[in-house]
This record gives sequence, structure tokens and C-alpha cells, in this order.
Amino acid sequence: MPIWCGAVMLELRGVSKEFRDGVLGHRRKKVLDDVSLTIRRGDILGLIGESGSGKTTLAKIALRLMEASSGSVYLDGRDVSRLSQREFRALRRKVQIIFQHPEGALDPQYRLRESICEALLKSGTPRSRLQDGTREACELVNLPTELLDRYPHQVSGGEVQRVALARVLAFEPDYLFLDEPTSMLDLSVQAHIINLIKGISTRNNTGLVMISHDIDLIRSVCTTAAVLHNGRLIAEGSMELVLSESKNEQVKRMVMSWNQQKRHFQRQRALAEDMLRAPVMLPMTRKNEGPDHIPMLTGEGR
Ligand SMILES: Nc1ncnc2c1ncn2[C@@H]1O[C@H](COP(=O)(O)OP(=O)(O)OP(=O)(O)O)[C@@H](O)[C@H]1O
Ligand SMILES: [Mg+2]
Repeated sequence: MPIWCGAVMLELRGVSKEFRDGVLGHRRKKVLDDVSLTIRRGDILGLIGESGSGKTTLAKIALRLMEASSGSVYLDGRDVSRLSQREFRALRRKVQIIFQHPEGALDPQYRLRESICEALLKSGTPRSRLQDGTREACELVNLPTELLDRYPHQVSGGEVQRVALARVLAFEPDYLFLDEPTSMLDLSVQAHIINLIKGISTRNNTGLVMISHDIDLIRSVCTTAAVLHNGRLIAEGSMELVLSESKNEQVKRMVMSWNQQKRHFQRQRALAEDMLRAPVMLPMTRKNEGPDHIPMLTGEGR
């Protein structure tokens, strides 16, 4: 089915957001300016833009975690600002987000096991299946079950991110926002998580919005792309149209800058790998100076 045929699930119409700025909050800073965006069932949309262009703000507004200054958000054709708290809560479970900074994603007072169980219970898993459900959730996100009795501060950022993902997947969301979801993970785990998310999205016909600076990642995962620049949506459409054939100067500059950054990074990495391969020449230790002899900064040896 062509990607533009899916039912519209999430729609932003003319969304703007201003924050108060300055010491006394007198000034106003517009961080989103009249953004309209449509996301259909089955879409995997890549939201790209420089740091500070408004990507996270847009995601928060789409999930009603933040109010827009103007404009509307429609979920399943319903204006979310007009829903009652109860109606919204029911709908909200179907729209989930993984934030870019995983620290706040888990309750610091809960062990990882309790965090996963809580999500499973809320999503309707019977108590009798909690143990199996937790094990399956860990397998899904490649999380060693030995970590389950630790608290969030006792595991790495990447491990917290995987628990956050396991919790979110428990709800089998119709819509999933991923805000730089793999920035904390190493390459092999990153690839696993991305494949997992793609698989789930295809199987459940989930709408996915992936926010990332990594244009290669967006290219390999997403079907459509949207580009934010200083709070304005400057390009939107199929991946080729937006990234390869864009006529927009700003988008072209962004893609060029990414390619340069990537080449620089690859050169640095090759250099570091060469250095690691090179034999290390250790300085000769002088007679009577064992390897433990370290001159002190207090003037010893002057
Ligand atoms: N609560 C807030 N109060 C004031 N300004 C804010 C607030 N939240 C975000 N901003 C500002 O809004 C702008 C957009 O922020 P946002 O976090 O949406 O950017 P982003 O595109 O997600 O950036 P990054 O890629 O670095 O995550 C930034 O200039 C930021 O400083
Ligand atoms: Mg952000």
C-alpha cells in the first residue's frame, strides 16, 4: 500500500509555541511557527533539524505534554484540547514517547523490575503473567535479566533507555515518538533496537516519528521526512524528495554539513584505530627507579 494511503492518525494544524525569555520573562521567544504536519498509520516519519530547531517541543505538543500557544492537534480526527481528562488518558496510552534523555524516564525509587511490571499491569497484563511478561520484555530489548533488581542509578544510560523502551512497548502503541532514541547506545545495540522498532511498527501498523540528528539513520529507517529550521517546517514529503532532491537551500546546507561531519568523524575514528594498532614505545626506566616511581609535583627530583 502506498505510504500516503494510510488513515490520518495525528495531525498538527498551524501549531506555534512561544516561551517567555529573559531574566524577568518579559521577552517572548517563538520556537515553533505555524507548523502543520500529518502523520498516517504505517508512516515512519523522520523529523530532522539542527539543535534548538524545536523538534522535542513539537513532540511534546503532539502528545499534549505541553500546550501550544496556538494551533490544534488532532488524534484520530479528534481535537485533543477538547477531550476530557478521562477520554484523553485512554487515548494517550496509544501514543507513547521515548525521550532523548533517559534519566527522567524511570522512577528512581523503583527497581527496574518494578518499572517494567508497572507498565505491564497498566497495559492490562494479568498478575499471573507478570513474570513471563517481564522476561519477554527483557528479551525484546536485549536487556540482561540480572539487572532487574537494580535501581536506575545503578545501570548505564543505554540500559535505562532499553527499560524505557520495554515499558513503552508494553502498551502496544499506535503511535510512537522516538526522540534521539539510540544516542546512548553502542552501534550493535542501536542496530538491534532500530530493527526491533521497525519490525513492531510494520507488524502493528504503528505510526512512528523518529527524531534524530543522524541523517543516515533517518534515511535507513524512515519512509517520509520533515525538516524543522528555527521552528518552521521547511520541507516535508518522501525521503528522496526531502533529502536527495531538495530544492531548499537550508536543507541542502544541512545535508552537506552532515556529510562533512560524518567524513570528519570517520577520519578521526580511522586515526584512533591506527593509533590503537601501532606498537606502543614505553620510555626506558632509569636504574633504581622501578615502574612505580612517579616524580611528584611537590618539587621532588628538581
Ligand atoms: N521550557 C522552555 N522554556 C524556554 N525555552 C525553551 C523551553 N524548552 C525549550 N526551549 C527552547 O526552545 C528551543 C527549541 O527547543 P527543543 O528542545 O524543542 O529543540 P530540539 O530541536 O529538540 O533541539 P536538540 O536537537 O538539541 O534536542 C530551544 O532554543 C530551547 O532552548
Ligand atoms: Mg530535542
